[in-house]
Amino acid sequence: MATPTQPVDPSTLKTPLPTSPRCNIPSAPKIDWTPMQQEVRRVAKEKNAVVLAHNYQLGEIQDVADFAGDSLGLALQVQETDADTIVFCGVHFMAESAKIMNPEKRVLLPNLSAGCALADSISPESLEEWKERYPDHTVVTYINSSAEVKAMSDICCTSANAASVIRSIDNDKILFTPDKNLGNWVAKQVPEKEVVIYDGCCPTHDVLRGVSVEKTKSSMPEAIIIAHPECREDVIEAAHEVCSTSAMIDRVAKYPDAKTFIIATEWGIIHQLQKHYPDKEFVSADGCIGCRLHCPYMKMIDLPMVLNSLHEGFYEITVDDDVAAGARKSLERMLAVPRDN
Ligand code: 13P
Ligand code: SF4
Repeated sequence: MATPTQPVDPSTLKTPLPTSPRCNIPSAPKIDWTPMQQEVRRVAKEKNAVVLAHNYQLGEIQDVADFAGDSLGLALQVQETDADTIVFCGVHFMAESAKIMNPEKRVLLPNLSAGCALADSISPESLEEWKERYPDHTVVTYINSSAEVKAMSDICCTSANAASVIRSIDNDKILFTPDKNLGNWVAKQVPEKEVVIYDGCCPTHDVLRGVSVEKTKSSMPEAIIIAHPECREDVIEAAHEVCSTSAMIDRVAKYPDAKTFIIATEWGIIHQLQKHYPDKEFVSADGCIGCRLHCPYMKMIDLPMVLNSLHEGFYEITVDDDVAAGARKSLERMLAVPRDN
């Protein structure tokens, strides 16, 4: 019999695992998470805690959360909650932003290893260097960044408000950090501004090429392609719609006759889309089951960790007061700007 350290050969199983209809790769056996989800809800109530989840979290976590959404939606939820504790199921910069906006609340991240490669692509030192090169530019920083980098910026943005944020600035010269793909996409929407773009990127999105998306589309020519703006330019050009993860839910409604949608972003959003539109088919743009469009950081949290976080108070996020005060200004300026259309 196989031990947990030995890979299971699916052909030896008495009950074969279900396979993905598109790539024939066996999917993981289904687990009934209901008892643990009920326990999460019970303990969250007992501790007056709110559970927030990003759209890339595992489906069983999105389902147990009080709210699942994109970075902007989560930042707005954080401002509204009257819970004592926020259990943030996402990545570190998201929980850190929640703490900055709510210094009096306890903010927990169930696994402290859940970082973000894009946020790591800019450090305070590298931003300092870019600011020296472009002293007349207003610094717009994507929310996927550390508190220190936010504190050195003039205003933050997310994928849901980047164009509106740039338009709101009373300066024609912008330094956009850290994501070059989002920066290129947003610069095209505000041609009246001179936008200098830092050279960071999200490896999960940057690995996807237009040819892979076209290959996926060749077997379903009627499909509508929806892409996240962290994708490269060739993917953006192939897409019918480009928007934040939560905006994808509304964009599907624009195509009532379409049956199939190709989704060019991390595979976790497909859970939300399928829940909203059970009669439609959502295919990961890598043409597979999302094996490549996988954010290892977002998937570092599982349901037992969420329960453990509630029980044990793991892991409390703290931010230095001075850094928090600077970062709060950039976040508050951003939250005063409405979502893009
Ligand atoms: P959204 O704000 O669109 O959900 O994106 C967050 C993110 O990390 C994308 O990689
Ligand atoms: Fe960061 Fe990319 Fe993961 Fe989003 S998908 S959390 S940008 S590493």
